[in-house]
Amino acid sequence: MTRPPDLQAFLDLSAHELIAVTRGQAARAAERLDQRLRAETGAMARRPAERLAVCDSIGPALQAAAKGPRGGLAAAFAALDRQLAWKRRQSADPANSAFWNGHANAMILGPGGLEDRADVWIGATVMAPGVTYADHDHPPEEIYLPLAAGEWWNAEMDWTDPGPEGVIYNPPGILHKMRAGAAPFLALWYLPV
Ligand SMILES: [Fe+2]
Repeated sequence: MTRPPDLQAFLDLSAHELIAVTRGQAARAAERLDQRLRAETGAMARRPAERLAVCDSIGPALQAAAKGPRGGLAAAFAALDRQLAWKRRQSADPANSAFWNGHANAMILGPGGLEDRADVWIGATVMAPGVTYADHDHPPEEIYLPLAAGEWWNAEMDWTDPGPEGVIYNPPGILHKMRAGAAPFLALWYLPV
């Protein structure tokens, strides 16, 4: 099976960046992810795209990223953005209006993604300025690549700004979250499941 060229281009740039910026445990996770992407292509899902109001933050974040060190990856993501089903986190509570209105997630590869598969999850999170994501954990380890400024926290790491060329690695099962600064937050996440 062959991937659509825009998805393949995004995955090639992702794998290249992940391998370039990770060390140690994160590098081994990136390697596993890359091997799985090369070994197998999942079924292309035909789901309707969905958007939420907060997705208006994606354009400005991508515009800023275009001039930065991840301009190529940002452009490759921009080519997929309008195909994605952007949704709120399932546990989000409408009573917490800042979070409810201020975040959205989209799966690119994985259950509900453009490419439906179980062994790799790749997606994106957008947040409006000033929003903090809900604390969460999940069994698979996770690598985040920021496309815009933001800070990350986990149970073993104080709030950290990885910078525009940086990376965040969360070991399996650890409690973690992220927060936007004064500008829209946009980050990609990669999980070998
Ligand atoms: Fe996570």
